[in-house]
Amino acid sequence: MKAALDAPEIHRGLDDVYVKETSICFIDGERGRLLYRGYDIRDLARHSSFEEVVFLLLQGRLPNRAELESARAELAAARPLAPSVLKLLRSMPEHAPPMDVLRTAVSYMSGFDPERDDSTQAANMRKALRITAQLATIVATYERIRKGQRVLRPDPTLGHAEDFVRMVTGKRPDPTWARMMDVAMVLYADHGMNASTFGATVAASTRADLHSTIVAAIATLKGPLHGGAIEDALGLVETIRRPEAAREFIVNKLRNKEKVPGFGHRVYKTYDPRALIMKEYARQLAESKGDDTYFRIATAIEETVVGELASKRIFPNVDFYSGLVFHRLGISTDLFTPVFALSRAPGWTAHVLEYWEDNRLLRPLDWYVGPKDLAYVPLDERA
Ligand code: ACO
Repeated sequence: MKAALDAPEIHRGLDDVYVKETSICFIDGERGRLLYRGYDIRDLARHSSFEEVVFLLLQGRLPNRAELESARAELAAARPLAPSVLKLLRSMPEHAPPMDVLRTAVSYMSGFDPERDDSTQAANMRKALRITAQLATIVATYERIRKGQRVLRPDPTLGHAEDFVRMVTGKRPDPTWARMMDVAMVLYADHGMNASTFGATVAASTRADLHSTIVAAIATLKGPLHGGAIEDALGLVETIRRPEAAREFIVNKLRNKEKVPGFGHRVYKTYDPRALIMKEYARQLAESKGDDTYFRIATAIEETVVGELASKRIFPNVDFYSGLVFHRLGISTDLFTPVFALSRAPGWTAHVLEYWEDNRLLRPLDWYVGPKDLAYVPLDERA
């Protein structure tokens, strides 16, 4: 039993493993606190904008008025896509999932980046802005193409969130709705060393280029345990259909040991502060649209999960109510995870740039438990 004695502790899921120091994002999962560069997410949601948060995450401080104006202008100027990227979007297979399209387009557009072969910090900072700007246009443009609608060019006079909704839906959103999308993007802009940021960091640690790190991040975000949950959460609400049916449906689901999408978190053991903000928006939208069925189903799900799983400390995460909000803002369900991605781009790039300041190849170990010293059997002699 010597091997068993020598066996190292395996950190399944890398629970409680720290891979770097950071000054970008602080999460207190016990108290439900989230800070970007020291600023509370609730203050940022109340007072800030996506553009300001992009500056904050990448530069490490809040901009002054002139800097904010110039960040806005830079982001707006970078939103249009190169004709070749547009051509790629038009050539995607029919019914291609938007997350796949986004991943492919980022990979493709890296070749057209004006600073493709420049990996200095300054060039990477500009690339980070371009990537952030263009993800929104890719998602909106593909949505119009697949629906057979006229593609809308970005409007540099509009804020990033408002322009995104306009490019998707074909009309300028009501200012309240535009603000909701802006805040949603702020809330999704970063979240520490989550799975997709870690995916990006692994790629970064090999000194791959910035676009490659974002491709890795998008690929990692796609899964239902991470960004994909946002789409499944709305699917759950749609399946239940009536608030009165929610409790029994969820209790059965839990009895069958199924996970409820939009609940639980590796770090939060209480309410995710972002979920509370999105819940309030979902409530306001339900009221303003005069139909609160989905909202009442969602709150019944929340009550049941939180009550039934109290001992496991399972609460709604940011994805649970976001789906309701995006749905009400006219965003197709399979664009929810891409919206998460385009909002997270500043966070991903900020973490990659921070990692490069003190880069070390990420190369963990796995503990071998298979057979050893097997005698090789020639093909003809195998049963
Ligand atoms: N529904 C029901 N039970 C749950 C849920 C859930 N959503 N989440 C956790 N649990 C239970 C688990 O079954 C487990 O119970 P057990 O100890 O009896 O086996 C216990 O709570 C601990 O859960 P783990 O899955 O071990 O916790 P982990 O930290 O690995 O998981 C995760 C976090 C993956 C997010 C999980 O909560 C989950 O699958 N949630 C649903 C998908 C989801 O909403 N993902 C979005 C995450 S947030 C984001 O990416 C923005």
